[in-house]
Parts: sequence; C-alpha cells; structure tokens
Amino acid sequence: MAENEVKITVRPNGPFRVEGSIKLVDAQGGEWDLTGKPAISLCRCGASANKPFCDGAHSKIGFQAQDSAPPPVVPQTATENT
Ligand code: FES
Repeated sequence: MAENEVKITVRPNGPFRVEGSIKLVDAQGGEWDLTGKPAISLCRCGASANKPFCDGAHSKIGFQAQDSAPPPVVPQTATENT
C-alpha cells in the first residue's frame, strides 16, 4: 500500500476497516482523535453503541452482508467484435 493511500475493506458481516492516514470528522467538522491508530473499523450495521466506530455489536445482532466487488471489466478486443 502506497504511503498516502487509504484502503477500505468491506468485512463480511461486519464493519468497514479503514487503513491509512485519514481524518474522520462529524457533520459540524469536529474531528475524532485517531492519533496512534493505523486502522479503524466503522460500523455499517447501525447497532454500535460507539458510532461511528464498530464495537462488535454486529455479531450480537446477526448482521448479514456479503458484499463483493464486481469482477473487473475486460475490454473486448477487435477480433471479438467480428
Ligand atoms: S459493524 Fe460492527 S457494530 Fe456495526
């Protein structure tokens, strides 16, 4: 991973795992102190008591989400169009 790159991993049945140098702010611009945290997990199930962070509640509520990225689009070659 490049130095300034941010990686977000969609965890199966769980949170968004965010790695890299980021700034996390609320709607008013207030910023969470992420000092010393190379990665954070953001709740996507809605059940965390510590939003926007995941607190593991997704397991207790049986959150189900198996999202996968679509397969890459392979461009057609000229010979495939004939
Ligand atoms: S994703 Fe973990 S508590 Fe919501």
